[in-house]
Amino acid sequence: MNAPIDLSGVTLTTERLILRPFRQTDLEDFFAYASMDGVGQMAGWAPHRTIETSQTILNHFIAEKKTFALEYQGRVIGSLGIEEYSEKEYPGFTEQKGREIGYALSRDHWGRGLMPEAVREALRYLFEDVGLDFAACGHFAGNRQSARVQEKCGFRFFGVSPYTTQLGTQETSVNSILTRQDWLSARREKAKEMLALIEARHSYRGAYKPSPVPREDLTAILRAGLAAPSGCNKQTTSLIAVDDPGVLASIRAVIDPPVAETSPAMICVLTRRINAYRDRCFAVQDYAAAIENMLLAANALGYESCWYEGHITDADRIGDQIARRLGVPKDYELVCILPVGIAADTPKAPVKKPFAERAWFNAFAGEKG
Ligand SMILES: Cc1cc2nc3c(=O)[nH]c(=O)nc-3n(C[C@H](O)[C@H](O)[C@H](O)COP(=O)(O)O)c2cc1C
Repeated sequence: MNAPIDLSGVTLTTERLILRPFRQTDLEDFFAYASMDGVGQMAGWAPHRTIETSQTILNHFIAEKKTFALEYQGRVIGSLGIEEYSEKEYPGFTEQKGREIGYALSRDHWGRGLMPEAVREALRYLFEDVGLDFAACGHFAGNRQSARVQEKCGFRFFGVSPYTTQLGTQETSVNSILTRQDWLSARREKAKEMLALIEARHSYRGAYKPSPVPREDLTAILRAGLAAPSGCNKQTTSLIAVDDPGVLASIRAVIDPPVAETSPAMICVLTRRINAYRDRCFAVQDYAAAIENMLLAANALGYESCWYEGHITDADRIGDQIARRLGVPKDYELVCILPVGIAADTPKAPVKKPFAERAWFNAFAGEKG
């Protein structure tokens, strides 16, 4: 028997969603989607006709601790359950550590990739944090949407089995499996793309197209910055994304000589030079890590950028002037600006020294001065 997984203290976040335990205050949101035609039928349960039904199931979710609420923009729009699997449906996997994922999503949010986003994060949690060997997932034959969710998340067809729904109808359940090994291999393949991206990154100082950078993309870049490591986790770096043309113009008015004149957005990097421990301050390392994460995230999303630090921290203290215009308090220092936008010119790669001149194995093997 598998050890129970208790989700009551677990909160996971994705780009757009929070996966967290259900609360009594979710009742109205839960009833709103559970009463929609088509939502429950996909998983074999009838739409809730009364809020009392939703209350009973909600109590069950809270007591059982096996179901995440999917929170999107402050509302619960669906659920993701992690259940013991049925031996009948997954023969051969009975002795291993595994769970079956089941889900439901409000019709208002179908077709936007939210469920694959939630399932991917649940899989990461199950394989990485819990240490499971496999995850299972099923859908009724003919349910293309759910099949797509499972394909997108890397599940492989395992078999079919008859399924009697709570409505008393007979369905064919199409069952899929994802092993930890396959999940790790897929992650490795994705990592290779990321490594290629890292090598392809370089500074861009040309003109930008005027097309605005959507807030969603700016937020993803900021999140990448905040995800960077920091000495003793002091999180000394803060960020301000500027996409308002008026604010951009007021910043540009103090950048002399001008740089990044045409970018439709700019990220300003702030630091607080506090000690991590004793007299050790790692603020520079902290913001450097955050900046590199953001440069890579911007590239990954199709944008160009450049790390402008020297230019704004010289004796003329352009950074301080920008900080004043953005209302930054005195205990923060604005140390870098990163333009963000789509390149209008062709980006040029700088010449870098060969690998063997700067990196070695086991001992220094470069020219000795
Ligand atoms: C700490 C730091 C400060 C920088 N400041 C500036 C700057 O003020 N202006 C600029 O054009 N580039 C600046 N850069 C970008 C570097 O010039 C650039 O990273 C370097 O030439 C290597 O090119 P690459 O980024 O294309 O690999 C800075 C980079 C770092 C790491």
